[in-house]
Amino acid sequence: MTAFKPHLMGLSRYPYTPLEARVKLDQNESPFDLPEALKRQALERMGRVAWNRYPSLDAREVRQALARRWDWPPEGVVVAPGSNLLIQALVQAARRVLDTLPSFPHYAHAARLAGTPYRAVLLRPEGEGFALDLEALLLQFTEGVLFLANPHAPTGSLFPQEAVLALAERAQEVGGLLVVDEAYREFAGVDHRALAQKNPHVALLRTFSKAWSLGGVRAGYLMASPEVAGVIQNLLPPFALPVHTTALLLCVLEAPGYVEEVVQYVKRERESLYEALKAHPTWRPLRSHTNFLLVRTPDAQEAFHKLLAHGVLVRRQDHYPLLSGALRVTVGRAEENRAFLEAAYA
Ligand SMILES: Cc1ncc(COP(=O)(O)O)c(C=O)c1O
Repeated sequence: MTAFKPHLMGLSRYPYTPLEARVKLDQNESPFDLPEALKRQALERMGRVAWNRYPSLDAREVRQALARRWDWPPEGVVVAPGSNLLIQALVQAARRVLDTLPSFPHYAHAARLAGTPYRAVLLRPEGEGFALDLEALLLQFTEGVLFLANPHAPTGSLFPQEAVLALAERAQEVGGLLVVDEAYREFAGVDHRALAQKNPHVALLRTFSKAWSLGGVRAGYLMASPEVAGVIQNLLPPFALPVHTTALLLCVLEAPGYVEEVVQYVKRERESLYEALKAHPTWRPLRSHTNFLLVRTPDAQEAFHKLLAHGVLVRRQDHYPLLSGALRVTVGRAEENRAFLEAAYA
Protein backbone atom coordinates (compact mmCIF):
# COMPACT_ATOMS: atom_id res chain seq x y z
CA MET A 1 0.00 0.00 0.00
CA THR A 2 1.52 3.31 -1.07
CA ALA A 3 -1.58 5.54 -0.95
CA PHE A 4 -0.71 7.14 2.37
CA LYS A 5 2.16 9.21 3.66
CA PRO A 6 4.85 6.74 4.73
CA HIS A 7 5.08 8.10 8.29
CA LEU A 8 1.48 7.04 8.95
CA MET A 9 1.97 3.40 8.03
CA GLY A 10 2.18 1.15 11.07
CA LEU A 11 1.80 3.99 13.59
CA SER A 12 0.68 2.76 16.98
CA ARG A 13 -2.88 3.51 18.05
CA TYR A 14 -3.76 5.98 20.81
CA PRO A 15 -2.66 4.26 24.04
CA TYR A 16 -5.93 3.12 25.59
CA THR A 17 -7.28 -0.37 26.20
CA PRO A 18 -10.96 -0.49 27.15
CA LEU A 19 -11.72 -2.94 29.97
CA GLU A 20 -14.96 -3.70 31.81
CA ALA A 21 -15.15 -3.35 35.58
CA ARG A 22 -17.72 -2.71 38.32
CA VAL A 23 -15.92 0.44 39.47
CA LYS A 24 -14.54 2.49 36.60
CA LEU A 25 -11.84 4.92 37.67
CA ASP A 26 -9.62 4.90 34.59
CA GLN A 27 -10.61 7.89 32.42
CA ASN A 28 -10.73 10.95 34.67
CA GLU A 29 -14.43 11.33 34.00
CA SER A 30 -16.86 13.16 36.27
CA PRO A 31 -18.50 10.69 38.66
CA PHE A 32 -21.85 12.35 37.95
CA ASP A 33 -24.00 12.55 34.86
CA LEU A 34 -25.61 15.90 34.05
CA PRO A 35 -28.40 16.76 36.56
CA GLU A 36 -31.62 15.11 35.39
CA ALA A 37 -33.57 18.38 34.93
CA LEU A 38 -30.81 19.89 32.81
CA LYS A 39 -30.56 16.72 30.73
CA ARG A 40 -34.30 16.87 30.03
CA GLN A 41 -34.02 20.55 29.07
CA ALA A 42 -31.16 19.76 26.71
CA LEU A 43 -33.12 16.89 25.11
CA GLU A 44 -36.09 19.14 24.65
CA ARG A 45 -33.93 21.82 23.04
CA MET A 46 -32.38 19.24 20.72
CA GLY A 47 -35.91 18.26 19.70
CA ARG A 48 -36.72 21.82 18.71
CA VAL A 49 -33.89 22.25 16.19
CA ALA A 50 -34.13 21.03 12.61
CA TRP A 51 -31.95 17.94 12.16
CA ASN A 52 -32.04 18.21 8.37
CA ARG A 53 -30.19 21.54 8.45
CA TYR A 54 -26.44 21.91 8.83
CA PRO A 55 -25.19 23.59 11.98
CA SER A 56 -23.30 26.88 11.92
CA LEU A 57 -20.06 26.76 9.93
CA ASP A 58 -17.93 27.52 12.97
CA ALA A 59 -20.14 26.91 16.06
CA ARG A 60 -20.99 30.61 16.15
CA GLU A 61 -23.70 30.45 18.86
CA VAL A 62 -21.57 28.42 21.26
CA ARG A 63 -18.56 30.64 20.59
CA GLN A 64 -20.67 33.66 21.42
CA ALA A 65 -22.02 32.06 24.61
CA LEU A 66 -18.48 31.17 25.70
CA ALA A 67 -17.24 34.65 24.82
CA ARG A 68 -19.94 36.15 27.04
CA ARG A 69 -19.25 33.75 29.89
CA TRP A 70 -15.48 34.28 29.90
CA ASP A 71 -15.36 37.87 28.71
CA TRP A 72 -13.31 36.92 25.66
CA PRO A 73 -13.68 38.21 22.08
CA PRO A 74 -15.80 35.71 20.09
CA GLU A 75 -13.25 35.86 17.22
CA GLY A 76 -10.73 34.36 19.66
CA VAL A 77 -12.83 31.31 20.55
CA VAL A 78 -12.76 28.01 18.63
CA VAL A 79 -15.13 25.18 19.58
CA ALA A 80 -14.64 21.55 18.54
CA PRO A 81 -16.07 18.12 19.32
CA GLY A 82 -13.45 17.43 22.02
CA SER A 83 -10.31 19.37 22.89
CA ASN A 84 -8.39 16.43 21.45
CA LEU A 85 -9.36 17.70 18.01
CA LEU A 86 -8.06 21.16 18.86
CA ILE A 87 -4.80 19.58 19.99
CA GLN A 88 -4.56 17.88 16.59
CA ALA A 89 -5.21 21.16 14.81
CA LEU A 90 -2.64 23.01 16.93
CA VAL A 91 -0.05 20.30 16.29
CA GLN A 92 -0.82 20.27 12.58
CA ALA A 93 -0.31 24.03 12.47
CA ALA A 94 2.86 24.00 14.58
CA ARG A 95 6.35 24.23 13.10
CA ARG A 96 7.44 22.06 16.01
CA VAL A 97 6.02 20.83 19.29
CA LEU A 98 7.61 21.04 22.70
CA ASP A 99 6.12 19.00 25.53
CA THR A 100 6.87 17.92 29.07
CA LEU A 101 7.53 14.27 29.89
CA PRO A 102 5.52 12.56 31.26
CA SER A 103 2.55 14.30 29.70
CA PHE A 104 -0.92 13.91 28.25
CA PRO A 105 -0.19 11.37 25.48
CA HIS A 106 -2.26 13.01 22.76
CA TYR A 107 0.27 15.81 22.23
CA ALA A 108 2.95 13.30 21.19
CA HIS A 109 0.48 11.08 19.34
CA ALA A 110 -0.86 14.05 17.36
CA ALA A 111 2.71 15.08 16.48
CA ARG A 112 3.40 11.59 15.12
CA LEU A 113 0.18 11.77 13.06
CA ALA A 114 0.96 15.21 11.68
CA GLY A 115 4.63 14.52 11.16
CA THR A 116 5.43 17.62 13.24
CA PRO A 117 8.90 17.64 14.84
CA TYR A 118 8.47 16.86 18.54
CA ARG A 119 10.63 17.16 21.65
CA ALA A 120 9.89 16.74 25.31
CA VAL A 121 11.64 17.96 28.44
CA LEU A 122 11.60 15.69 31.48
CA LEU A 123 9.93 16.99 34.62
CA ARG A 124 12.10 17.29 37.71
CA PRO A 125 11.23 15.10 40.70
CA GLU A 126 10.75 17.50 43.61
CA GLY A 127 9.79 16.40 47.10
CA GLU A 128 7.01 13.87 46.66
CA GLY A 129 5.94 15.35 43.33
CA PHE A 130 7.23 17.00 40.17
CA ALA A 131 8.35 20.44 39.02
CA LEU A 132 9.09 21.92 35.60
CA ASP A 133 12.67 21.99 34.43
CA LEU A 134 12.22 25.63 33.55
CA GLU A 135 15.77 26.21 32.43
CA ALA A 136 15.65 23.34 29.93
CA LEU A 137 12.19 24.35 28.69
CA LEU A 138 13.26 27.96 28.11
CA LEU A 139 16.31 26.74 26.25
CA GLN A 140 14.39 24.27 24.07
CA PHE A 141 11.50 26.61 23.30
CA THR A 142 12.90 28.31 20.22
CA GLU A 143 9.83 28.16 17.94
CA GLY A 144 6.48 26.45 17.47
CA VAL A 145 4.04 25.37 20.16
CA LEU A 146 4.71 24.42 23.77
CA PHE A 147 1.96 22.37 25.41
CA LEU A 148 1.68 22.75 29.15
CA ALA A 149 -1.14 21.06 31.00
CA ASN A 150 -1.60 23.05 34.21
CA PRO A 151 -2.68 21.40 36.43
CA HIS A 152 -0.58 18.71 34.86
CA ALA A 153 -1.58 15.29 33.59
CA PRO A 154 -0.75 12.59 34.53
CA THR A 155 1.04 13.85 37.67
CA GLY A 156 -1.72 16.10 39.08
CA SER A 157 0.88 18.78 39.90
CA LEU A 158 0.13 22.49 39.69
CA PHE A 159 3.02 24.57 38.39
CA PRO A 160 3.64 28.02 39.90
CA GLN A 161 2.36 31.09 38.12
CA GLU A 162 5.89 32.53 37.81
CA ALA A 163 7.02 29.51 35.79
CA VAL A 164 4.04 29.81 33.44
CA LEU A 165 4.72 33.51 33.10
CA ALA A 166 8.37 32.87 32.20
CA LEU A 167 7.27 30.42 29.49
CA ALA A 168 4.70 32.91 28.19
CA GLU A 169 7.37 35.60 27.94
CA ARG A 170 9.64 33.17 26.15
CA ALA A 171 6.81 32.38 23.70
CA GLN A 172 6.52 36.08 22.92
CA GLU A 173 10.29 36.45 22.56
CA VAL A 174 10.61 33.64 20.01
CA GLY A 175 7.29 34.22 18.23
CA GLY A 176 5.95 30.88 19.47
CA LEU A 177 2.73 29.85 21.19
CA LEU A 178 2.31 28.57 24.74
CA VAL A 179 -0.82 26.43 24.95
CA VAL A 180 -1.93 26.08 28.54
CA ASP A 181 -4.19 23.04 28.66
CA GLU A 182 -6.66 23.83 31.44
CA ALA A 183 -8.56 20.52 31.22
CA TYR A 184 -8.47 20.17 35.04
CA ARG A 185 -8.41 23.86 35.98
CA GLU A 186 -11.67 23.83 37.96
CA PHE A 187 -10.26 21.28 40.42
CA ALA A 188 -7.29 23.57 41.09
CA GLY A 189 -9.22 26.84 41.06
CA VAL A 190 -6.87 28.34 38.46
CA ASP A 191 -7.59 30.43 35.42
CA HIS A 192 -4.86 31.63 33.06
CA ARG A 193 -7.06 34.14 31.25
CA ALA A 194 -5.32 37.23 32.63
CA LEU A 195 -2.04 35.94 31.21
CA ALA A 196 -3.55 35.10 27.81
CA GLN A 197 -5.36 38.44 27.63
CA LYS A 198 -2.07 40.29 27.98
CA ASN A 199 -0.02 38.05 25.74
CA PRO A 200 -1.27 36.89 22.31
CA HIS A 201 1.42 34.18 22.38
CA VAL A 202 -0.62 32.31 25.01
CA ALA A 203 -3.70 30.22 24.20
CA LEU A 204 -5.94 28.31 26.60
CA LEU A 205 -7.43 24.92 25.94
CA ARG A 206 -10.54 23.91 27.87
CA THR A 207 -12.88 20.94 27.91
CA PHE A 208 -16.45 20.10 28.88
CA SER A 209 -15.35 16.53 29.62
CA LYS A 210 -14.24 16.84 33.25
CA ALA A 211 -15.84 19.29 35.72
CA TRP A 212 -18.72 19.92 33.29
CA SER A 213 -19.50 16.17 33.31
CA LEU A 214 -19.85 15.83 29.53
CA GLY A 215 -17.13 13.36 28.54
CA GLY A 216 -19.56 11.45 26.34
CA VAL A 217 -20.71 14.56 24.49
CA ARG A 218 -17.28 15.54 23.12
CA ALA A 219 -16.77 19.26 23.38
CA GLY A 220 -13.81 21.51 24.04
CA TYR A 221 -12.65 24.98 23.11
CA LEU A 222 -9.67 27.20 22.60
CA MET A 223 -9.39 30.79 23.79
CA ALA A 224 -6.69 32.63 21.91
CA SER A 225 -5.91 35.75 19.95
CA PRO A 226 -8.14 36.22 16.89
CA GLU A 227 -5.09 35.51 14.72
CA VAL A 228 -4.35 32.14 16.35
CA ALA A 229 -8.04 31.24 16.52
CA GLY A 230 -8.43 31.97 12.80
CA VAL A 231 -5.67 29.53 11.86
CA ILE A 232 -7.00 26.77 14.12
CA GLN A 233 -10.61 27.28 13.02
CA ASN A 234 -9.47 26.85 9.44
CA LEU A 235 -7.93 23.49 10.26
CA LEU A 236 -11.21 22.11 11.59
CA PRO A 237 -13.67 20.69 9.11
CA PRO A 238 -16.57 23.02 8.28
CA PHE A 239 -19.77 22.47 10.33
CA ALA A 240 -17.82 20.40 12.89
CA LEU A 241 -20.10 20.94 15.90
CA PRO A 242 -23.39 19.03 15.45
CA VAL A 243 -26.76 20.68 16.12
CA HIS A 244 -27.52 18.44 19.11
CA THR A 245 -24.17 19.23 20.77
CA THR A 246 -24.83 22.91 20.12
CA ALA A 247 -28.26 22.74 21.80
CA LEU A 248 -26.83 20.90 24.79
CA LEU A 249 -23.87 23.24 25.27
CA LEU A 250 -26.12 26.30 25.12
CA CYS A 251 -28.27 24.74 27.88
CA VAL A 252 -25.35 24.06 30.22
CA LEU A 253 -23.83 27.47 29.56
CA GLU A 254 -27.13 29.03 30.62
CA ALA A 255 -27.24 26.96 33.85
CA PRO A 256 -23.66 26.17 34.86
CA GLY A 257 -24.37 26.03 38.62
CA TYR A 258 -23.96 22.24 38.84
CA VAL A 259 -20.26 22.45 37.91
CA GLU A 260 -19.26 23.97 41.24
CA GLU A 261 -21.09 21.17 43.07
CA VAL A 262 -19.20 18.53 41.10
CA VAL A 263 -15.91 20.32 41.77
CA GLN A 264 -16.51 20.64 45.52
CA TYR A 265 -17.54 16.98 45.79
CA VAL A 266 -14.52 15.75 43.83
CA LYS A 267 -12.10 17.93 45.80
CA ARG A 268 -13.48 16.63 49.12
CA GLU A 269 -13.24 13.03 47.96
CA ARG A 270 -9.76 13.60 46.50
CA GLU A 271 -8.46 14.86 49.83
CA SER A 272 -9.95 11.97 51.81
CA LEU A 273 -8.64 9.47 49.27
CA TYR A 274 -5.19 11.07 49.56
CA GLU A 275 -5.26 10.95 53.36
CA ALA A 276 -6.48 7.35 53.39
CA LEU A 277 -3.75 6.27 50.96
CA LYS A 278 -1.01 7.95 52.98
CA ALA A 279 -1.49 5.26 55.60
CA HIS A 280 -0.91 2.46 53.07
CA PRO A 281 2.12 0.32 53.96
CA THR A 282 3.69 0.46 50.46
CA TRP A 283 1.64 2.73 48.17
CA ARG A 284 2.36 6.49 48.02
CA PRO A 285 -0.17 8.99 46.66
CA LEU A 286 1.01 12.27 45.10
CA ARG A 287 -0.70 15.54 46.00
CA SER A 288 -3.13 16.35 43.21
CA HIS A 289 -4.84 19.48 41.91
CA THR A 290 -7.03 17.53 39.49
CA ASN A 291 -9.81 14.92 39.63
CA PHE A 292 -7.34 12.03 39.83
CA LEU A 293 -4.47 10.84 41.99
CA LEU A 294 -1.18 9.38 40.87
CA VAL A 295 -0.18 6.57 43.18
CA ARG A 296 3.24 4.96 43.38
CA THR A 297 3.25 1.26 44.10
CA PRO A 298 6.13 -1.20 44.31
CA ASP A 299 4.81 -2.99 41.20
CA ALA A 300 2.20 -1.36 38.93
CA GLN A 301 1.27 -4.57 37.14
CA GLU A 302 0.61 -6.43 40.37
CA ALA A 303 -1.28 -3.49 41.91
CA PHE A 304 -3.37 -2.99 38.76
CA HIS A 305 -4.41 -6.66 38.64
CA LYS A 306 -5.12 -6.80 42.34
CA LEU A 307 -7.51 -3.86 41.99
CA LEU A 308 -9.09 -5.34 38.89
CA ALA A 309 -9.63 -8.66 40.69
CA HIS A 310 -11.70 -6.62 43.17
CA GLY A 311 -13.68 -5.03 40.33
CA VAL A 312 -11.80 -1.70 40.33
CA LEU A 313 -10.35 -0.37 37.08
CA VAL A 314 -7.58 2.26 37.18
CA ARG A 315 -4.94 3.28 34.62
CA ARG A 316 -1.32 2.16 34.61
CA GLN A 317 1.20 4.95 34.12
CA ASP A 318 4.39 3.01 34.74
CA HIS A 319 5.37 3.05 31.05
CA TYR A 320 6.39 6.72 31.44
CA PRO A 321 9.87 7.81 32.44
CA LEU A 322 9.95 8.86 36.12
CA LEU A 323 6.72 7.00 36.84
CA SER A 324 7.85 3.48 37.67
CA GLY A 325 5.18 1.69 39.70
CA ALA A 326 2.62 4.44 39.08
CA LEU A 327 -1.13 4.02 38.75
CA ARG A 328 -3.62 6.77 38.07
CA VAL A 329 -6.94 6.61 39.86
CA THR A 330 -9.84 8.91 39.02
CA VAL A 331 -11.68 10.35 42.00
CA GLY A 332 -15.11 8.74 41.87
CA ARG A 333 -18.21 8.76 44.06
CA ALA A 334 -17.71 8.08 47.77
CA GLU A 335 -18.78 4.43 47.40
CA GLU A 336 -16.46 3.90 44.43
CA ASN A 337 -13.55 5.42 46.30
CA ARG A 338 -14.35 3.17 49.25
CA ALA A 339 -14.28 0.14 46.95
CA PHE A 340 -10.91 1.31 45.61
CA LEU A 341 -9.48 1.73 49.12
CA GLU A 342 -10.81 -1.66 50.25
CA ALA A 343 -9.13 -3.28 47.25
CA ALA A 344 -5.91 -1.30 47.81
CA TYR A 345 -5.71 -2.48 51.40
CA ALA A 346 -6.84 -6.06 50.68
C1 LIG B 1 -4.70 17.27 29.81
C2 LIG B 1 -5.84 16.86 28.94
N1 LIG B 1 -6.13 17.59 27.86
C3 LIG B 1 -7.13 17.27 27.03
C4 LIG B 1 -7.92 16.16 27.28
C5 LIG B 1 -8.97 15.77 26.26
O1 LIG B 1 -10.17 16.31 26.51
P1 LIG B 1 -11.40 16.12 25.52
O2 LIG B 1 -12.30 15.13 26.18
O3 LIG B 1 -12.02 17.50 25.45
O4 LIG B 1 -10.92 15.67 24.18
C6 LIG B 1 -7.68 15.37 28.39
C7 LIG B 1 -8.49 14.17 28.63
O5 LIG B 1 -8.27 13.35 29.46
C8 LIG B 1 -6.60 15.73 29.24
O6 LIG B 1 -6.29 14.97 30.30
